[in-house]
Amino acid sequence: MKKVVLAYSGGLDTSVAVAWLREQYDAEVVTLTVDVGGGSLRQGVERRAMSAGASRAYVVDARERFVTDFVWPHLQANALYQGAYPLATALARPLIAQLLVEVAQKEGADAVAHGCTGKGNDQVRFDVAVHALDPGLEVVAPMRVGMGLTREQEIDYAAERGIEIPITKSSPYSIDVNLWGRSIETGVLEDPWVSPPADVYEWTVDPGRAPQPVEVVIGFEGGIPVSLDGEFLAPVDLVERLHVQGGAHGVGRVDHVEDRLVGIKSREIYEAPAATILHAAHRALEGLTLSKDTLRLNRLVAGEHAKLTYDGLWFSALHRDLRGYVASSQRVVSGEVRMRLDHGNAIVAGRRSPLSLYDRNLATYDEGDAFDHASAVGFIEIFGLPLRVEAARHGAVGKHHGAAWAWTPPLLEALPTTVEDPEGGATG
Ligand code: ARG
Repeated sequence: MKKVVLAYSGGLDTSVAVAWLREQYDAEVVTLTVDVGGGSLRQGVERRAMSAGASRAYVVDARERFVTDFVWPHLQANALYQGAYPLATALARPLIAQLLVEVAQKEGADAVAHGCTGKGNDQVRFDVAVHALDPGLEVVAPMRVGMGLTREQEIDYAAERGIEIPITKSSPYSIDVNLWGRSIETGVLEDPWVSPPADVYEWTVDPGRAPQPVEVVIGFEGGIPVSLDGEFLAPVDLVERLHVQGGAHGVGRVDHVEDRLVGIKSREIYEAPAATILHAAHRALEGLTLSKDTLRLNRLVAGEHAKLTYDGLWFSALHRDLRGYVASSQRVVSGEVRMRLDHGNAIVAGRRSPLSLYDRNLATYDEGDAFDHASAVGFIEIFGLPLRVEAARHGAVGKHHGAAWAWTPPLLEALPTTVEDPEGGATG
């Protein structure tokens, strides 16, 4: 290995990794830092990379592409891992992997490297994505192959080599951030019974201390959010604005025991105000604009989509094809949703769309009802036909309580009942 491109956050681990790679492999190290928003870009990261011995330090602002190409397709798909996790960390990995590969190709490097441990999902996501994009590249993860240093050892290691150390206080947690969410693990959180201490949260206020509820109107075009309260916004601005507003109302805290790809159950805390609000709003608008069969299929697709992304299979053909289906299904998901931010909750308060399938004349119980009540009789006749045939051939469900295969025990004789009798005298 002559040259390696390292995914570099500017933190202690990856700073030590620069020197470690040079010493262990005698390799030239190029660093790549990707700004995916949310405070992921640290001040002075290029300088620190050079002080650690990098020959060149790339810094890429990928915020907009992260939102448009990775976050939006998952919002359109309603993809939440195990119904809970908006996938912020998982979504950034294929983007960073792609940039690693592009820089490696540009630099003529023979390997890429990342600072993931051997226990998590992120190593899988990086390795699998890199090899999908360029099977010729080697992937090195120093933490997996011997660079297992404690924090104190890392500090000493850096000091001995004159590596500039980030001046952050040591956090009791392992944290990953980007525009779409903040992922927090380890420390006291490893006991799933312990409620997260207040210092876990940085983006959201305690919902109990949130101010008076507010409403925000989110405009969508083709399943993609485009405006807030009628003002059209660029993707990054829109997410950042909702992030601030949601966080101020305590919206977006997720406490999840999740199943990692490597077989471990892990307790994770997420803060994702914008994701929480946008997912709820998007589903509400789909309910108005998509047919019931499309909604049903979309729910299945959402689960598959989330799983593939979580498992690091972004660059698989199946993932791509699912994205194609989802994008197509979204062409009518346009309109507005009113969301109420209320003490930690993002509540749908209303929705409207020029492409709405909701027809008030059909739905109403008031005057102007256009629904043909009489034709319901014929519909039910045919809809219920299979059950009547079943009852005729196999016996009516309610008539065979004594039979071994009776489905439902009788209710009336088992429940306290009173009967008003016209002759007088109620019986109990
Ligand atoms: N469990 C999440 C995932 O696999 C988040 C991982 C975050 N990483 C971290 N260092 N905290 O996507």
